[in-house]
Amino acid sequence: MSQSYRVAILGATGAVGAELLELLHSRSFPLADLKLLASERSAGAKLPFGSSMLSVEAVSDRSFDNVDLVLASAGGSTSKYWAPKAVAAGAVVIDNSSAFRMDATVPLVVPEVNPEAVASHRGIIANPNCTTILMAVAVWPLHQVRPVKRIVVATYQSASGAGARAMEEMKAQARAILAGETPKTEIFPYPLAFNLFPHNTAINELGYCEEEMKMVNETRKIFGTEEIKISATCIRVPVLRAHSEAINLEFAEPFSAIEARDILKQAKGVKLVEDWQANYFPMPAEASGKDEVLVGRIRQDISHPCGLEMWLSGDQIRKGAALNAVQIAELLATKKLLQTQGAAVYK
Ligand code: A2P
Repeated sequence: MSQSYRVAILGATGAVGAELLELLHSRSFPLADLKLLASERSAGAKLPFGSSMLSVEAVSDRSFDNVDLVLASAGGSTSKYWAPKAVAAGAVVIDNSSAFRMDATVPLVVPEVNPEAVASHRGIIANPNCTTILMAVAVWPLHQVRPVKRIVVATYQSASGAGARAMEEMKAQARAILAGETPKTEIFPYPLAFNLFPHNTAINELGYCEEEMKMVNETRKIFGTEEIKISATCIRVPVLRAHSEAINLEFAEPFSAIEARDILKQAKGVKLVEDWQANYFPMPAEASGKDEVLVGRIRQDISHPCGLEMWLSGDQIRKGAALNAVQIAELLATKKLLQTQGAAVYK
């Protein structure tokens, strides 16, 4: 990577934005310039990048002039509005929102799974949903050896998935409850501290919420197959950071837990965490701040001869969002794909 790039972070003041800044610095991404963008509320704020402090600008029509790469993490409607403008101005956008993920012309990429998909980008590359990324990293290595027929997953999703303000809200709720006061809710529909509730996205006619359907549809797109049957139950839990998932896999033929463990021990982006004597397995507190998806409790499903059970915890802000985006950026830089193929593809 001898070339260096002019990068903008849209949503720099958010939880994922902070992690993008840290990762661009710690992974020495070749930067020619770094522009921090957010809403008007944040104009003039300063954020750390290594040992310097950089100013935040309010995003505007001129923000993407002379920018090669935009890392966007400012919500779906913001991306829908600004990403096509950034592409028209000549930048490539790696978008962390759900706005473009299921667009057939937009690659949806987990670098450990489908790195080759970046080659077909037309200006926008989508970063998958956090729970989907974590599951894909853990299931793909097994799927490579024997195809998965069906996945049944339950998630335990932390406050961080709803952004920096949601994390603060949960902390304030915990303080309020411990002080005997009524907790306030603004971001979440119900108090999350000392509680849990099903993921509060819109529910479809089949009874599945949007987050659950993201796991179904995005996993199929990333794996490049419509054949896998997937059912998900997504739950928000009172954990500050890092999501966990209980995953049941059904294969076409028997898959021993021993073999699965051996495969996952060597899998990219996975760290096997298992001490059966100590009952020690992946925990969100230990996954927080880590790059790898922690996987463990791999066991034979006693209810099905071709079934496996496993458990994972992964940092939603890091591998579930910012790290995956930066890895995509590194892929683009290595493959010399940081040019759009003509402007205004997305209207
Ligand atoms: P701001 O801090 O100025 O509101 P999180 O998901 O952690 O809540 O972060 C959301 C990020 O998206 C923040 O950086 C936020 O900036 C940014 N953002 C939200 N709405 C807009 C908008 N309309 N235009 C630009 N940035 C936005």
